[in-house]
Amino acid sequence: MSKIASHITIAMDGPAGSGKSTVARRIAEKLGMLYLDSGAMYRAVTLLALENGVEEDITKLIDLVKQCIIEFDDNGKKIFLDSVDVSEEIRTPEVNKLVADIAKIPEIRHEIVKHQQRIGAKGNIIAEGRDLTTIVFPDADYKFYLDASIRERAKRRYADLQEQNVKTTIDAVEAEIAARDEKDTSREHSPLQIADDAIRVDTTGKTIDEVIDIIVGHINT
Ligand code: DC
Repeated sequence: MSKIASHITIAMDGPAGSGKSTVARRIAEKLGMLYLDSGAMYRAVTLLALENGVEEDITKLIDLVKQCIIEFDDNGKKIFLDSVDVSEEIRTPEVNKLVADIAKIPEIRHEIVKHQQRIGAKGNIIAEGRDLTTIVFPDADYKFYLDASIRERAKRRYADLQEQNVKTTIDAVEAEIAARDEKDTSREHSPLQIADDAIRVDTTGKTIDEVIDIIVGHINT
């Protein structure tokens, strides 16, 4: 398929390890669209909390979030927090463990959603996360919900962590993902849920290319 020059917005949600980041990034390249990794922004804020020792002091953290500058480069592959490249630091086990607790704070979500909507205002964007189809871009032209069995999602995350030389086990990763799923789906504000008009894609046992073909097959360019 050729690249498109259009104003369409594609929103994609799903749990950790469902494949949405890789798939969205590849579709962005394929179709010449902007890629927005919304989870990276919650991760950057979590890093900000850890670096400043304010993970328990929500008022101070909210102040810091209002002042900080989060920017992307290399079409969403790199993220900068106050001009520092934190693309690797936001993927550590410490951030993984805390991010769902930080992401449930409504004032923080409010700031991050505003920022995401500014980035997406011109369209030609594919954005992925937990609330992109429901809260951030409720009028998106295309909405997808990606999912996979928890074991498969744990295996994918385990493979990523092995590449980063993080010592862990598949069972430990599965337990961490299950805990995060529970927090992401049961929180009061903007929980992960399937939008009524989203197309559900089960990625279990499918290659990235197969998933991309399914999604691109739904998009009229
Ligand atoms: O997609 P990810 O694993 O990088 O996301 C990290 C965390 O950020 C996830 O556990 C929940 C939170 N998140 C969110 O609350 N809303 C989003 N739109 C994206 C991520």
